[in-house]
Amino acid sequence: MVCEKCGDRGIYIENGVAFQCSCNRDLAKKRRYAASRLPVKLQDYTFDGFDFCYYPEGAFPEKRKMSYREVAQSTFEAAQNFARNTILQSRGKGLFIYGNVGSGKTYLCSAIANYLLENGKEVLFIVVPDLLDEIRASYSGDSEYSEIQVLRYAINAPVLILDDLGAHNYTEWARNKIYSIINNRLNNNMPTVINSNLNLGQIERYLGERTTSRIVELCDIYSLFVPKDIRHIKNMERQEYHC
Ligand SMILES: Nc1ncnc2c1ncn2[C@@H]1O[C@H](COP(=O)(O)OP(=O)(O)OP(=O)(O)O)[C@@H](O)[C@H]1O
Ligand SMILES: [Mg+2]
Ligand SMILES: [Zn+2]
Repeated sequence: MVCEKCGDRGIYIENGVAFQCSCNRDLAKKRRYAASRLPVKLQDYTFDGFDFCYYPEGAFPEKRKMSYREVAQSTFEAAQNFARNTILQSRGKGLFIYGNVGSGKTYLCSAIANYLLENGKEVLFIVVPDLLDEIRASYSGDSEYSEIQVLRYAINAPVLILDDLGAHNYTEWARNKIYSIINNRLNNNMPTVINSNLNLGQIERYLGERTTSRIVELCDIYSLFVPKDIRHIKNMERQEYHC
């Protein structure tokens, strides 16, 4: 269908001044979302929808001086600041967010992605277990691993989000590829957000010292904990439980 306002030219003239037509902006946004690989379900997660009720005040995660609520507030603020700053500048420090299962890590990373995509920034959202599946699928018998396009995109993406860099079965090749992504992003000071169930000590066991050391330089370290998996609470809420 041809746009009534601009005849698909992408701009229209009003009182002698050229304006970008909204159809052009919509199309550009659609393309950004498609290229981002952000799963459809996660496209609805926004900062505004982030509910703090799952992070209680006055209760403390193990060995921590801040309450669940304070930890969540600090990490939420860091995520929002990261998103806002990344609109203004294309280089800068990223975030590493770790915490227990169902604590909102993927939610928060998706909110960052949506904020950036809405505001004209290109983002690549990689679900690490899916990437490892792709790597495995590309392996064929005795031949070399084929180059996987997404790995090249990951190095160059203006903003990269690695979701669930966890306790997976990393082949030596996959481990090297993750090293290479992180090393390249660090060398170019490219904004990168990582979330994981593992703390840095545990990450080191899976990915090695060289990669972990670079993550520390690439990212500021935050955490997000809940006393109870939010998935379970949501499930109970559906059955009339309210927190
Ligand atoms: N702060 C929040 N407000 C509202 N809903 C949330 C919040 N955090 C998480 N959720 C919801 O809870 C569920 C689990 O959240 P999420 O997937 O972000 O957890 P996670 O920390 O990434 O878990 P995992 O470690 O298993 O990957 C999702 O359905 C998500 O929509
Ligand atoms: Mg997750
Ligand atoms: Zn138009």
